[in-house]
Amino acid sequence: MAGAYHTGMTPESRPRVFVSRRISDAGRDRILGETHADIWPDEMPPARDELLRRVERVDGFLSMVSDRVDDELLDRAGPQLKVVSNYGVGVDHIDVAACTRRGIAVGNTPGVLTETTADFAFALLMAVARRIPEGYDFVRQDRWKAWSPLLLMGPDVHHATLGVLGFGRIGREVAKRGRGFDMQVLYHARQAAAPEDEAKLGTRRASLDDVLAQSDFISLHVPLSPETHHMINHETLARMKPSAILVNTARGPVVDSDALYEALRDGVIAGAALDVTEPEPLPGDHKLLGLPNCLVVPHIASSSFATRARMASIAAENLLAGLKQAPLPSFVNPEAYTPR
Ligand code: DGY
Repeated sequence: MAGAYHTGMTPESRPRVFVSRRISDAGRDRILGETHADIWPDEMPPARDELLRRVERVDGFLSMVSDRVDDELLDRAGPQLKVVSNYGVGVDHIDVAACTRRGIAVGNTPGVLTETTADFAFALLMAVARRIPEGYDFVRQDRWKAWSPLLLMGPDVHHATLGVLGFGRIGREVAKRGRGFDMQVLYHARQAAAPEDEAKLGTRRASLDDVLAQSDFISLHVPLSPETHHMINHETLARMKPSAILVNTARGPVVDSDALYEALRDGVIAGAALDVTEPEPLPGDHKLLGLPNCLVVPHIASSSFATRARMASIAAENLLAGLKQAPLPSFVNPEAYTPR
């Protein structure tokens, strides 16, 4: 029932929650003020066994992308679990249908990370195109002995063709950034954007084939689902230009890592920048890291001070609302509250 607890309760009598990592102060303080919270203190996430132990008998769980929320976890938590509030927008690691069946609300943090993630996708695109990591390595290796007319040349970004796969909030912001660089922007998505949005963004919808064949840069913005799993594979990579650069800030398994490795090694495409990988985290000795034309960073596209603070606040609000069985400010499965 809404309002079933209040802040005057002793911490022990408040609803019990588990927060699987440290989060920014604004969100943490809200949670500590209203719940009996167990906040995982380490930089490394809890191992699966520990996670399962920590969620036992909690009323709410604030999860991260690295926590698999499935029937096993929900069983261990117990029937009092009311809400899984995810710190992040993607919920492919959560069995949302299983939560819905059990009447458990699921929340996420869309909207607040859109522009920050788009900025980062563009930064990755620029970095690989203009070979910034290679240039930095070159200097650090003390190989910079003279200015050279042919050193570390790359393709121009301005006036090139940008292909955006998936045209939700983040894809649209990436398109906007592309237009700022005078790029021609094509997108492919199941659903066409409204004609006025296409006009405003100066972009047009194209078939997947056309986007693959015509783009100098391809940026991925699809959610991970059975349809998008390994959407970038041997076959789709072969349809790209040999000069193409691929950017992935979506989800690692959208790209078949082995196929990408071979394509980068054999010159099927020219470069890639990955914020997300398969597997994730990518081990330090992974073959992709041996390629000069592949830039990999550790899933940090939304990691600006302001955005991570806003994500923490929204995740906290979702958690607290779910504990009261009130509608979540960002509700993934409102149908969880429909009487069955
Ligand atoms: C998101 O919000 O989904 C980011 O990838 C972090 O999980």
